[in-house]
Amino acid sequence: MDSIRIIGGRPLEGRIRISGAKNAALPLLAAGLLTDRPLMLGNLPRLADIETMLQLLAGHGVEIDLAENGEAGRTAILRTPTLADDTAPYDIVRKMRASILVLGPLLARWHRARVSLPGGCAIGSRPVDLHIDGLRRMGAEIDLADGYVAARAPDGLIGATIRFPSVSVGATENLLMAATLARGQTVLENAAREPEITDLANCLVAMGARIDGIGSDLLTVDGVEALGAAEHHVLPDRIECATYAAAVAVTGGAVDLAGGRLDLIEATAGVLLDAGVGLEQHGDDLRVWRNGASLKGVDVTTQPYPGFPTDMQAQIMSLMTTAEGAAAITETIFENRFMHVQELRRMGADILVKGSTALVRGVPRLSGAPVMATDLRASVSLVLAGLGAEGETRVNRIYHLDRGYERLEAKLAACGAEIERVPE
Ligand code: EPZ
Repeated sequence: MDSIRIIGGRPLEGRIRISGAKNAALPLLAAGLLTDRPLMLGNLPRLADIETMLQLLAGHGVEIDLAENGEAGRTAILRTPTLADDTAPYDIVRKMRASILVLGPLLARWHRARVSLPGGCAIGSRPVDLHIDGLRRMGAEIDLADGYVAARAPDGLIGATIRFPSVSVGATENLLMAATLARGQTVLENAAREPEITDLANCLVAMGARIDGIGSDLLTVDGVEALGAAEHHVLPDRIECATYAAAVAVTGGAVDLAGGRLDLIEATAGVLLDAGVGLEQHGDDLRVWRNGASLKGVDVTTQPYPGFPTDMQAQIMSLMTTAEGAAAITETIFENRFMHVQELRRMGADILVKGSTALVRGVPRLSGAPVMATDLRASVSLVLAGLGAEGETRVNRIYHLDRGYERLEAKLAACGAEIERVPE
């Protein structure tokens, strides 16, 4: 298995292009199942998870034409005139839990679906009960057998009012897509408001869906007979953008994040500004800098959007390990998202975990060490730690990284980092 080797201590200077958002591209690709007309998606990132979703859709019978557009990512044209297979198999779903996002579209258009249960993952049990409960309220008959969700809606889905007991990005996306072709009106209350959901809703409207309340926690959908063709460009990846902003905060220097949008990372930007990092939007570029002065510890609690994103928790913890003073970091979304703590401790970090809060006390500098990645964001937090650490850091199991960061080491090396991928 490949690893990444970093020699820490080099400031980052230059320009990094932000790729299309993984967590927008995945539901947008699933939306291709909703129509027999061509759905053209631009600015798709080159990521393992995107490949997995394309493989899953091809198995359902989706016709896919791909084109490369250099820095503008990839373009996919999806056509789904017929359904070849209603099953999302375990060997694909176990690689990527977002496969569950085909459930709503398959049920809405073909009235049947057999989707493997995703199973848990490193950061938590990750159930899909909110997806299932919502679809049942829309008239679907759903059984869980042999590790699969077996769903049927012989007469099609019926609009319903669904109040989510807790905020769920995936459940909101699945039910939003299902509602576009349901008979009558669906109201989603306490819906997630992540920008990726707004991006999906905008694409669905371009396809002919009737959705009100986009961007709010109250989505109203009036079902239509069929959806049509559309062309949509995936919005920039706010987590990738915030990750590189945190990288500059760790190393010092100044980087223009091309395509980065300050308005999508306000909560993270607030923490970075309080810590002593500079951020300014200059047209399409988000400029990030830290000149010399040391960082100050800032307390962080993860929340659903627009609060501080759980997908930035590990990265900000890396940053706080060498900030002045202390930072209390509380994870409220997932039950086991501190897997990076042990690895950061091996690099000399002073972190005390009590329940869902990690108390990070700043130390002058971390020391490079061989460390192991466990999930996507924990992996990148170890890369950030290595960029600032004394000496060599070797991050193993970097297949996690390839799921969510396009050409990470190339983007960082182009800004002066001493980082390379070492094939095993
Ligand atoms: C999405 O996952 C993202 N993935 C995650 O990003 C992100 O961390 C998460 O939203 C929260 O923002 C994609 O968009 C592909 P949830 P999702 O449903 O939809 C519980 C990354 O690093 N829950 O909002 O699975 C769940 O266990 C990934 O890019 C239920 O209990 O997250 C969690 O505790 C990691 N029942 C909480 O809700 C359900 O039916 C939030 O989960 C669904 C979720």
